[in-house]
Amino acid sequence: MPDEVLSQFTQTVREEKKAAPVKKFRYGIIGTGWIAEAHAQVLKNMEDVEVVAMADLIPGKAERFADTWGFDKSKINFYPSHKEMIDNEQLDGVSVCTYNRTHAECTIYALEHGVNVLLEKPFTVTTEEAVACCRAEKKSGKLLSIGFQPRMDRNMQEIKRIVESGELGQVYYIRIGGGRRRGIPNSTFIEQKTAGIGALGDIGCYALDMVLNAIGYPKPLTVTGYKSAFFGANPKYNNPADAARFNVDDFAAGFVRLEGGIVVDFITAWASHIDTPGDTIILGTEGALRIPSTECWNGSVGGPMTLYKDIAGFSTQVTVPLRGDVPGGLFFQKVRSFVDACREGRPAPVPSSQILYNQAIIDGIVKSAEAGKEIEIEIPEI
Ligand SMILES: NC(=O)c1ccc[n+]([C@@H]2O[C@H](COP(=O)([O-])OP(=O)(O)OC[C@H]3O[C@@H](n4cnc5c(N)ncnc54)[C@H](O)[C@@H]3O)[C@@H](O)[C@H]2O)c1
Repeated sequence: MPDEVLSQFTQTVREEKKAAPVKKFRYGIIGTGWIAEAHAQVLKNMEDVEVVAMADLIPGKAERFADTWGFDKSKINFYPSHKEMIDNEQLDGVSVCTYNRTHAECTIYALEHGVNVLLEKPFTVTTEEAVACCRAEKKSGKLLSIGFQPRMDRNMQEIKRIVESGELGQVYYIRIGGGRRRGIPNSTFIEQKTAGIGALGDIGCYALDMVLNAIGYPKPLTVTGYKSAFFGANPKYNNPADAARFNVDDFAAGFVRLEGGIVVDFITAWASHIDTPGDTIILGTEGALRIPSTECWNGSVGGPMTLYKDIAGFSTQVTVPLRGDVPGGLFFQKVRSFVDACREGRPAPVPSSQILYNQAIIDGIVKSAEAGKEIEIEIPEI
């Protein structure tokens, strides 16, 4: 066949194969503080996404943020709050990167105006707020995903896989052992008016998600909770300026009964006098799993896990090797999976229906600690 005929044919095939240009996913960032950077950095590298709007309550902060992280400011509209942004933009999705206290209002406003939401952890401050977000999501038909990037970690996925494999038999007891010796954050994390909850919401939510996700998020029924703040407000352990304004928990514990007869023994700390309260352990009728804690307790696995089983009458143990990084890193995967789910009409990567239970446990610990007794966890229908 003559070359020109062949090349014409190749050309036709190429043209037929050329994908229709993908409409860019119009994205907004609400709250341009510390964690927004992680969202911005990965969004910048997504060819099918354009960041078109940024909002922050502090005048000029969003503009400075755009400058710092190398955005072309002429292509971005800046707003003094989430409301003006949502009212004036046609957005496909937003990252809500505000402090905990404004998570619910930003999320609900976006959903009510037809915008998909990727919300930073913890879900909210109270169960009532989380319920309101879930209802807004249901009514809107849009998608709400909660920003637990450890879910993208292969080691975390391994925990779930091991539990689901049935090798542990029936899981009946979980002890969550994460917590820091010294690691009190500052900024907006340490005040009621911005954070609402301290270590409990900041790192406690990750610890709960690690194990609850593995066992399929059974409904929490009752909780006995405790919380304290012996370090954050003490200038001996925190710098005096931060100690003076510190008014959230820096330590919390809880004993939680879940549907299906499973109990979770929980502990978390920004500060204490012990290097670590220990590893996380999952006990089952046929085996057990030990998950080493990390020093900073940010929801990751601190080292190779150990799987315990009796085989042929011998008590044996197997080391589960640590698995490597995911392409682009955990934050990339967290934002990418959100965008893909919105585009493809798939369920949220980290569904609000699960994290509602996580939030109900956190809120239950607060309420039980304040009441000084065990309480029932009540979660209304969505
Ligand atoms: N996933 C993670 O690894 C991770 C890490 C750190 C923080 N976080 C979470 O991210 C959230 C923010 O933390 P941060 O350290 O970035 O806080 P930050 O205080 O640095 O930033 C929050 C920003 O939100 C702005 N804001 C508040 N309400 C607003 C509203 N209604 N409209 C527009 N802007 C508003 C504030 O002015 C502030 O600039 C917290 O909930 C925190 O728990 C997640």
